[in-house]
Amino acid sequence: MNPIKGVVFDLYGTLYDVHSVASLCSQFYPGRGLEISMLWRQKQLEYTWLRSLMGSYAPFEQVTDDALGFIGKQLKLNLTSGTHEALCNEYLQIKPYPEVPAALAKLRAQGLPLAILSNGSRHSIRSVVNHSGLEPQFDYLLSVDDVQVFKPHNAAYELAEKRMGIARDDLLFVSSNAWDASGAHHFGFTVCWVNRTSNTFDELGQRPDHVIAGLDELPALVGGASA
Ligand code: LAC
Repeated sequence: MNPIKGVVFDLYGTLYDVHSVASLCSQFYPGRGLEISMLWRQKQLEYTWLRSLMGSYAPFEQVTDDALGFIGKQLKLNLTSGTHEALCNEYLQIKPYPEVPAALAKLRAQGLPLAILSNGSRHSIRSVVNHSGLEPQFDYLLSVDDVQVFKPHNAAYELAEKRMGIARDDLLFVSSNAWDASGAHHFGFTVCWVNRTSNTFDELGQRPDHVIAGLDELPALVGGASA
């Protein structure tokens, strides 16, 4: 295996918990927070994939907004425009998983370039990362806005290789999303799948090179495999 010369993180679900929105969902719809946030996330992802296939890119905030509109109707939530707006704003302020700040600080000390490569728009990524105070930990915040197509399209992964100037197989791509880890491995990255909740890996003809249960395991993995 090649030595690791840089680390590229997925954002939603990997560094930041998309289900942080569940508590605001429960304030509006008691007892239904997680149900709403899970369906919302699933629909949001579907819309990114469908838009990529249709060749009809829209920024992540719009896809997120549209997905909420859909599930609001499907679940008969009677979403007012105020509630809709409050929930979408919450998506711009989701929280990092508890182990993430310390893991990033350790990786930073190891001296490798660190990047986020996300389906989020430039605005979404900056809002989430700024809100958590973690922006100084990253050398690159890369948005698919620049290629107008979502992961798992190869053009999206290629952004990291081009911007960081590091060959794909020298980059460690870290994602909790099995579909994203599969796409990244298919592209040619070395891949670490973060499996926090004993999920099943997707059957897309790819396998991750490494599997960890949380980001706290990453500094040791990178330390043992960096150039
Ligand atoms: C990301 C989402 C889709 O790209 O996980 O950050």
